[in-house]
Amino acid sequence: MTILSAEELPEDEVERSLRPRRLADFIGQETLKDQLAVAIAAAGSRGEALDHVLLAGPPGLGKTSLAQIVAAELEVAFVQTAGPALERKGDIAAFLTALEPRSVFFVDEIHRLPRALEETFYPAMEDRCLPITVGQGAGARVVTIDLPPFTLIGATTRTGLLSTPLRDRFGIHHRLDHYQPQELALIVRRSARLLGVEIETEGALAVASRSRGTPRVANRLLRRVRDYAQVRGSGVVTAQAAAEALDLLEVDGVGLDRLDREILRTICEKFGGGPVGLSTLAAAIGEEQDTLEDVYEPYLIQLGLIERTPRGRAATVRAYAHLGLEPPRAQLGLL
Ligand SMILES: Nc1ncnc2c1ncn2[C@@H]1O[C@H](COP(=O)(O)OP(=O)(O)OP(=O)(O)O)[C@@H](O)[C@H]1O
Ligand SMILES: [Mg+2]
Repeated sequence: MTILSAEELPEDEVERSLRPRRLADFIGQETLKDQLAVAIAAAGSRGEALDHVLLAGPPGLGKTSLAQIVAAELEVAFVQTAGPALERKGDIAAFLTALEPRSVFFVDEIHRLPRALEETFYPAMEDRCLPITVGQGAGARVVTIDLPPFTLIGATTRTGLLSTPLRDRFGIHHRLDHYQPQELALIVRRSARLLGVEIETEGALAVASRSRGTPRVANRLLRRVRDYAQVRGSGVVTAQAAAEALDLLEVDGVGLDRLDREILRTICEKFGGGPVGLSTLAAAIGEEQDTLEDVYEPYLIQLGLIERTPRGRAATVRAYAHLGLEPPRAQLGLL
């Protein structure tokens, strides 16, 4: 394994260099790894393509990494695109007809695939064929193109936006959940090793416990903490250096950043604790509604700081306590 000097690499390349390459390097998500290991071994021994896989979950939890790992474990080619990049049926046909047998075809953000195109995937996934209409008007006829066996891996931050027929055609479904601090600490230590950063066990745990359950965030915070330790400390990431660096970055004790706290504060102070509709909330904060829903909300809900109600998002008593605010009476009644 090469030790990379992060100073020489731009951030996204650093992130790529930290990606786990094999199932054994992928930390956590044990059930999913077990399921995949069995399915991969079975497909491999039969010489068949692996069943189609749908990976759902918030950003930065390892969907893209896992898709690449599946291809590496199967020892097959990996071809990648994203829902919004597929605009016409021809775009899909171009990808599918060019696949080598048993390849992994990864469609990121599959929920953003135009609805009309979802149907193109049905026969491709089920029968490995692609009916194409040739000609126009009375002379039009349908020609069916045979496709090589392939594995479609779809990644989505929102399963809810996928149509049922598309969802049902994936043989393996899995939702990635936020990681536990212990798992994130292992990820931080692995990344530190790859980046050549000296880190103490307690330092890794300090970064991990403030990384909102997300490996990508953990890796990003590790790099900032490393900078801090280099400039203001001994260069070693100790628990104290990590805590000071994270305070400086305004990441609080439970991992909330400034925008997280602004979301809570806005619900509590501007909207009397809610419920407030997501679009109103997004407008009040000046953020994209999608970003709030995909990135921020899942973790705030997981911490029990906000609730999703039929009429919108509401702050819990815990949110008031976290901000050091007095909850209104009505809110206490909810207890
Ligand atoms: N289980 C894991 N073990 C080790 N590192 C991980 C793990 N999961 C994710 N990572 C790290 O986190 C980074 C982000 O992961 P990845 O890009 O796979 O997430 P994603 O779910 O595809 O995110 P997005 O929804 O934004 O595309 C990777 O570069 C990788 O270094
Ligand atoms: Mg991804």
